[in-house]
Amino acid sequence: MDTEIQGRAAHAADIRARAEAQMKAMGVDEAFVDRLVETFYGRVLAHPELGPVFDAKLSGRWPEHMATMKRFWSSIAFRSGAYGGKPVQAHTGVSDLTPGLFPQWLALFSETLDDIAPSAEAKVWFMATAERIARSLTLSLFYNPALDDPQRKPA
Ligand code: HEM
Repeated sequence: MDTEIQGRAAHAADIRARAEAQMKAMGVDEAFVDRLVETFYGRVLAHPELGPVFDAKLSGRWPEHMATMKRFWSSIAFRSGAYGGKPVQAHTGVSDLTPGLFPQWLALFSETLDDIAPSAEAKVWFMATAERIARSLTLSLFYNPALDDPQRKPA
């Protein structure tokens, strides 16, 4: 039993070490994750369409949100397990969240990475990851089988 637990711990440590090496090779460290979150959400707040949707939910709670988002990105990049939240549930309570806002979120994230990413590879990695999560969130929040009927004629 002990050996099994030790084996799993060693495996997790190995995964973390590889993730860290991959990030390091792209110039990504914890300081960059902090800067990305600070810069991106600063721009989100100033965005005419995204800003009000975020602020309606997060007014008075922004510092907490920033800390959560740093843990979230750090957890994915470094496979640290630091984030244990439930993103889909968190978004079900966001009023006025529409599918059309996601391309705007992604465009702003892309512009932010153009400005501050430490390397082209880092931009590719963060964009691919954000796009995958955005797709998954969009499906979880908005997928409607009635609109997915192959027989259905386009309007
Ligand atoms: C237009 C698109 C989006 C909007 C308007 C939006 C809005 C929000 C808001 C208002 C919250 C705070 C919820 C709360 O604490 O009550 C939140 C949390 C969060 N969002 Fe988004 N979001 C969007 C897209 C995304 C995308 C693309 C990602 C990932 C790449 C993401 C990841 C998260 C995560 C991880 C949390 C924290 C969940 C938790 O509390 O554990 N969001 N979002």
